[in-house]
Amino acid sequence: MLEFKSVTKRYNGEETAVKDLNLKIEKGEFVCFIGPSGCGKTTTMKMVNRLIDITDGSILVNGEDITKQDPVALRRSIGYVIQQIGLMPHMTIKENIVLVGTLQNWSEDKKDARAKELLALVNLPEEYLEKYPHELSGGQQQRIGVLRALAADPPLILMDEPFGALDPITRDSLQEEFKKLQKELDKTIVFVTHDMDEALKLADKVVIMRAGEVVQAASPEEILRNPANEFVEAFLGKERLIQGRPDVTTVGQIMGDSPITVGTGETLKTAISKMREARVDSLLAVDSDYVLRGYIDVEMINMNYKKASSVEEVMEKELFSVSQDSLLRDTVHKILRRGIKYVPVVDESSKLVGIVTRASLADIVYDTIWGEGTELEETIAAAE
Ligand SMILES: Nc1ncnc2c1ncn2[C@@H]1O[C@H](COP(=O)(O)OP(=O)(O)OP(=O)(O)O)[C@@H](O)[C@H]1O
Ligand SMILES: [Mg+2]
Repeated sequence: MLEFKSVTKRYNGEETAVKDLNLKIEKGEFVCFIGPSGCGKTTTMKMVNRLIDITDGSILVNGEDITKQDPVALRRSIGYVIQQIGLMPHMTIKENIVLVGTLQNWSEDKKDARAKELLALVNLPEEYLEKYPHELSGGQQQRIGVLRALAADPPLILMDEPFGALDPITRDSLQEEFKKLQKELDKTIVFVTHDMDEALKLADKVVIMRAGEVVQAASPEEILRNPANEFVEAFLGKERLIQGRPDVTTVGQIMGDSPITVGTGETLKTAISKMREARVDSLLAVDSDYVLRGYIDVEMINMNYKKASSVEEVMEKELFSVSQDSLLRDTVHKILRRGIKYVPVVDESSKLVGIVTRASLADIVYDTIWGEGTELEETIAAAE
């Protein structure tokens, strides 16, 4: 869809704003550029729609070199939301939305229909079409800025800090709305932001830039798990590295750390009294190195009390466990589908390090991972 090949930009022949940028963006992908002020994000955007000329290298849109295309036609075929909202103050909201249509000589009917259709996408009432930008709140103006970029239905949209000037709550709801919209409309989005939370929330791929160069380009999960260097770490912030995004949380981060255990060599009598004491009906069985070997429950003990004496003789060795490094989102389905009440968590050497209970999982996962929760609900229903 969009490809940067060794793209370099030097202003005035000296200062290097973008240095040897190589990047491939697939159709339908949502890519966020992030980095400190002046690192070359806006420059990168503007080279794509030829508002700025490339010094070296090439940019391909749908496999075609942009320098071989008419700049005006190219610009109109790519949606663009600029760093300031940039609505035309003397045009109505409708005229603002269908600006590109006007440039392309759409009929009044077509413009009318398109403006109404788009406004409905962001849940604004039709009266707004006849208002002027200053009569709208900042968030509403930002929505209109986004609609204007969507008007001619371009497959590729460039967005330069489109939500930058908003208060956090408005920004949050607009992000949600926009992410949903992007999925529905299947657009390729190149999005610039200063805000790491925004990038992690929206992007399929985050491109972290510094002084004109790409420091790391990877999925939010990958960046959080394996930041390329200290600069990326600092940019992410310590807190975020620990907590992660809700949907990249690892099992290790949410597990309880004191599962009730019994040694494999201990007696059934000891096991029973441990269960009583902790008011549980099963115990995890570990060996002297704390390696998880199995589990034992009341029923097993009752059935074998007479013929066996040690936990090892009675315990069930087949046991589902998860690794503390696995991503919640990858394991939660498995856990819930099995209909078990808890899952032990082990480290690389199979040592028991924690436990995840079904109840705690449902609580944490429900809202954060799937939002609407339909997929999860189905999984739970199937497991019940
Ligand atoms: N027209 C210009 N002439 C000369 N230098 C420029 C021009 N536009 C940008 N620059 C320089 O190029 C570098 C990259 O600027 P750019 O606008 O791409 O940064 P940015 O990452 O978008 O920053 P911000 O986050 O502040 O918007 C900066 O050092 C800037 O001073
Ligand atoms: Mg900028």
